[in-house]
Amino acid sequence: MGEWDGMAKAAKAITIDDLQRMAMRRLPKFIGDYIETGAGDGGTATRNINAFRQFKFVPRSLVKVTPVDTSVTLFDQTYAAPFGISAVGMTSIYRRGADWILAEVAREANIPFILSGAASAPLEEIIRIAPDHTWFQMYVSKLDQVNLDVIRRGRQAGVKVLVVTVDYPIPNVSQVAARTGISMASGPTVRTFPKLAVDALRHPVWTAEFLRSGGMPLLGSWARYAPSGSRQKEISQYYIQNWCRNIDWHDLEAVRREWPGRLVIKGVVHPQDVSRALSLGADAVTISNHGGNKLDTMQASIDSLISNIDDEQPEKPLFLDGGIRRGSDIAISLALGAKFCFFGRPTLYGVTAGGKPGAQRAVEILKSELAYTMAMIGAPDVSSIRRAKVTR
Ligand SMILES: Cc1cc2nc3c(=O)[nH]c(=O)nc-3n(C[C@H](O)[C@H](O)[C@H](O)COP(=O)(O)O)c2cc1C
Repeated sequence: MGEWDGMAKAAKAITIDDLQRMAMRRLPKFIGDYIETGAGDGGTATRNINAFRQFKFVPRSLVKVTPVDTSVTLFDQTYAAPFGISAVGMTSIYRRGADWILAEVAREANIPFILSGAASAPLEEIIRIAPDHTWFQMYVSKLDQVNLDVIRRGRQAGVKVLVVTVDYPIPNVSQVAARTGISMASGPTVRTFPKLAVDALRHPVWTAEFLRSGGMPLLGSWARYAPSGSRQKEISQYYIQNWCRNIDWHDLEAVRREWPGRLVIKGVVHPQDVSRALSLGADAVTISNHGGNKLDTMQASIDSLISNIDDEQPEKPLFLDGGIRRGSDIAISLALGAKFCFFGRPTLYGVTAGGKPGAQRAVEILKSELAYTMAMIGAPDVSSIRRAKVTR
């Protein structure tokens, strides 16, 4: 199937699962595995999705639900839906220009787009495309001057929301990558090259695009910090060397002191950590296990959300990501107490399979499924989802 056929097909996908299959067909297996498999044996990534299937609505009837209103106000801004696109690093590997495309899609759909701290695109370029919809995700560096500069650039560019990700204190490990010996992180070796080349040749559309645009993409926002004259590989190595994986509360406090705008902490799940993050001045916490990429024996995100909801503080500013594949998953999350949801893979599948039309389709699918669920449970607007009855 050619590129244009693929795009046209993606634009007509019916579900996010359709887009996932199309995206995986376009990518060599070792690249697709990087998106899909999650840490260890992938248990948490799968659990995130399956956990949503255990919840059932008890709908209200005889409610005027037309037209359904999916809009919501968050941090003084009204968005078209209670969801946004989460940070995904190095998206240009999967589809050249994906960060730029996703920013445009978010602006047109009026939803937030979190630009990854390990993005292919520089922050300043994305802000120009979507000034009112770009949130910026920061990975804390070991270099204070870099952290201060990243924060300065965010302020100068007009970023309204800074997201600090707390993910892996040590490098994460996937059993799939370990077994095959082929991984994007380790790159080809003499032993793995033949397998990798065959895999790439079986996916000529992706491979042609990858080679035509110069191979591995740059880390757009980081390139300026590496020694001058550094090329893609040196920039990535410099980034990894100076990435402060094992951040602690002092690091978060330092960011809070320097960043005057809205601050979201993404990736803490234990109720004591969530409370501490909120009390150090975070405006919200995203309950996230990094899409299952951290540890294969974690609770599903939706279960971590439930562990953090208590009747005494029903208005806790908690967002959720992980496992959202249907609009009803968003409705379930809101009914159980999330204020907003994010997803990583759904729009990544869309943009990989079908460029801009594919990413737009992913957003449309989730929005129309959410609106459908709202109508069927008797929730004409987002605040009424919060009163919906859900059983397990
Ligand atoms: C391939 C891939 C790359 C990711 N890169 C980042 C990143 O750079 N920064 C970040 O905060 N989270 C990153 N995440 C995690 C996502 O932001 C999000 O937490 C996760 O994808 C949510 O799960 P879902 O994919 O099931 O929606 C990444 C996830 C994937 C799958």
